Amino acid sequence: MSENINAGNPRRRDGKKVVLSGIRATGNLHLGNYFGALSKFVRMQDDYDCRYFVADLHALTTHPDPKMLHENVKDILAEYLAAGLDPEKNTIYVQSDVPEISEMYLLMNMHVGIGELMRTASFKDKARKALGISTGPSNGQEGSVENEADDEGIEKQIIGNQTNQRVNAGLLTYPTLMAVDILIHHADFVPVGKDQEQHLELTRRFARRFNSFYKTPYFGEPVNFNFGGHAVKVPGLDGSGKMGKSEGNCIYLIDDEKTLRKKVMRAVTDEGPKEPNSPVSEPINNLFTLMELVSTPDTLEHFRNAYADCSIRYGDLKKQLAEDILKITLPIRERILDIRNNDEYLSRVVRQGAERAREAASQTLREVREIMGIRKF
Ligand code: TYM
Repeated sequence: MSENINAGNPRRRDGKKVVLSGIRATGNLHLGNYFGALSKFVRMQDDYDCRYFVADLHALTTHPDPKMLHENVKDILAEYLAAGLDPEKNTIYVQSDVPEISEMYLLMNMHVGIGELMRTASFKDKARKALGISTGPSNGQEGSVENEADDEGIEKQIIGNQTNQRVNAGLLTYPTLMAVDILIHHADFVPVGKDQEQHLELTRRFARRFNSFYKTPYFGEPVNFNFGGHAVKVPGLDGSGKMGKSEGNCIYLIDDEKTLRKKVMRAVTDEGPKEPNSPVSEPINNLFTLMELVSTPDTLEHFRNAYADCSIRYGDLKKQLAEDILKITLPIRERILDIRNNDEYLSRVVRQGAERAREAASQTLREVREIMGIRKF
């Protein structure tokens, strides 16, 4: 990975590297959000200059009920704080409170091709959903940025669509807005789950393109951060794929004990190993993956061995898994309930956060305008 060329980044506080990440305001946080992103946010807060935001503008791409959007923003904020983010150590803000982002999004779009956006796998998936097209997934977000081979017809279908369903331009330019979120802070690290790595790759591409167009090494190239490990993909409990809000297979941080136990006990399994050292099927592997995140190595080893010698009882595995998830989520749940209705506190946190974020953002915007030739009389 290339080192951030903006080594003397004046926006760093106390000379610390800048961390930037956000989560869309589309509902409560689940274990995917927690292990893919939020737990990393918390672990990074002492060593870096961290800025974490609630992506409410990104949430608009899927047309939330206007009455709900603000509630969703408050949910995420409360969950950030309940998980352990300290508003004194971090800059915590709401994306729409920083209008510089919207202006820079307009400017950055001048350097982004509609072709490359249309070929982005995540766009194709969302466009397909918006148009009600059910042809197989574009292999989601884990391949290369552009995924042309599997469904090259989607662009034609979008342009030629005769129904009143449309794919909004905000969905198309989603990666531009995300790149701006990151570049406006000159972030060094962007802790995200595996499904967001393509967007990060596009961010680096846009940064390089801007630098080369204006012949200035202005932006660095931000990278994911995983404490030396791999990006995480938290699976769902329904046997395949990742945990996600739209997949309807989530365990939420806010789930009460009974709900959570019920969800885990209902997780899809198989008929069990018939002979020693059988290969592990996807649903069972998913349970092991979850266990790897929440249980001790000894516990995991115990159940893996039990699988290998065919003595495993899935009921025991699930009970243990539920227990270990609850150890993490219940204390967070209690704090969420505490913080969620404290409007005064939440608004103090985001006002302070917006002020700090705007300081960095306005400097970048001023410089970007200057580089692009926009001058004041
Ligand atoms: P969003 O809101 O879909 O998800 C928020 C974070 O949770 C991670 N995540 C997962 N990680 C592992 N396994 C899963 N099953 C799983 N599900 C979700 C995501 O990878 C992400 O880190 N575009 C972003 C929001 C965003 C952003 C940004 C992020 C907007 N601007 C700038 C970083 C920097 C998104 O939709 O994430």
